[in-house]
Amino acid sequence: MSEKRENWGSKLGLVLAMAGNAVGLGNFWRYPYQAAKNGGGAFMLPYFGALILMGIPLMLVEWSLGRMGGKYGHGTLGPMVYLQAREGVKPRTAILIGSLAGGLALAVTLLVNSYYNHIIGWTMGYTVLSLTGSYMNVESTGQFFADYIQNPGLVFGFWLLALTTLMFTAMGGIQKGVERMAKILMPTIYVFGIILIIRTLTLGSPNAAHPDWTPIAGLNFIWSPRWSELNWAATMAACGQIFFTLSIGMGIICNYASYLKPDDDIVLSGLTTVALNELAEVILGGTIAIPIAYAFMGPDGVGASIGLSFIALPSLFKEMGFGNLIGALWFLLLSFAGLTSAVAMYNYLVSLIMENTSAIRKKASVLVFIGYIIVGLPVALEPILTKTADLMYFTEVDNWVGNFFLFILGMTEIIVTGWLFREKGLPEINRGSYWKVPSWFYKLFIQGITPIAMIVVLVMYVVDTAKQGYYKLIPTFVAGNDALIPWVIAGRLVVFGVVALGCIVTYASIKRS
Ligand code: PHE
Ligand code: NA
Repeated sequence: MSEKRENWGSKLGLVLAMAGNAVGLGNFWRYPYQAAKNGGGAFMLPYFGALILMGIPLMLVEWSLGRMGGKYGHGTLGPMVYLQAREGVKPRTAILIGSLAGGLALAVTLLVNSYYNHIIGWTMGYTVLSLTGSYMNVESTGQFFADYIQNPGLVFGFWLLALTTLMFTAMGGIQKGVERMAKILMPTIYVFGIILIIRTLTLGSPNAAHPDWTPIAGLNFIWSPRWSELNWAATMAACGQIFFTLSIGMGIICNYASYLKPDDDIVLSGLTTVALNELAEVILGGTIAIPIAYAFMGPDGVGASIGLSFIALPSLFKEMGFGNLIGALWFLLLSFAGLTSAVAMYNYLVSLIMENTSAIRKKASVLVFIGYIIVGLPVALEPILTKTADLMYFTEVDNWVGNFFLFILGMTEIIVTGWLFREKGLPEINRGSYWKVPSWFYKLFIQGITPIAMIVVLVMYVVDTAKQGYYKLIPTFVAGNDALIPWVIAGRLVVFGVVALGCIVTYASIKRS
């Protein structure tokens, strides 16, 4: 750790890299179907509630945990959490909290990307297949998608392309890799998004039988609150989406913040990251997929799930003027958004290796490549071996690392800063900042409502899922379906194996420092 830590090259580069970290497939692929599935208008209220109550406070906390960790030479979450926790509890307890946080963060950064890298691969594949018009004449785009993920050539080819791109970017380091990528791809994403919005809003009413199905009616559909549909599941989904989309509870915002200088501003930069992400989410993400689906298929078409991007939209690109170009633009936008996020997880693991071994960045980047190949294999193999498009392994891993763990990690961070680091937290956030966080905000949110709300939501979630038989050895949702059980069990073994490994590595790393 004697070598000097890297720094961001410029403020613009930093903000674009952080926005690149946050703006991802979550905004364009995940958000539209989460909003649609949870009653559209009924989703927006808990969504903005969670943004203010949890998203913004945690974004500030993660930036400050990261900048402080970087000062001590750390780029990973475990030691960062330890450094603040030890101000409030005995060193041994602080080491335990830090180790647990490090273990969960390893599981998130290794395993979320184990499937995310595949989705990036699919979007790259679909960019090419859109240009070549491959799905323009098929009968069912659902079958086309199922065939795609069962085709080893396409799946492995584009997955390796995505991984190789990430590896070379990570090898370039912070300024010449991550920052340069963000400076090129981020403005492109916003430009592509605007072009796609214009095409969407000029669709008119493409379904002759239903002249009232217009893109604007689709926007109305998700923006009019339907209070009766507001329920616990929608609230949970909204919190989950806020965590996922802002990249909080993952350790990767902290990692990027560790390359700040000790007095760099974090309040304004952190809020800018939130603003750029929300712009890309509720404006760009919300004004493409859903209005297109609505214009062609009406209110029922909006109910689609994960398949919205890969199944419903291609079936509509088929019918629309310039459909293959629009399709290609959509999937290229998705792959750019995915790459600038995935590189953050990639870099987290590079940091972890560099912090714990004598490996230099180049070697660490190759090791991470190998790691992602290993953890990504079951995701790729399930559809190929089972000849189905069920993706049970993917779904199970995502339930743990892409939902549950993010929440536990975020809760741990806010409790450590608000309740253990206590009064020292506010000046740590405000040091060097252009705007200061007022002390009432710190007390009311970071030390008060936010951790308490998170504990309540977490308990409700666990009780709810336990009632559904989710924690049984053979969980209720697969019981009796012998073909799927092994994939679900395998998912759980991998998830908890990685957490255990991460805890041990972090424990050793904190002890050493
Ligand atoms: N915020 C990212 C998104 O919206 C989440 C993410 C980051 C996922 C990094 C994977 C890797 O897509
Ligand atoms: Na996002």
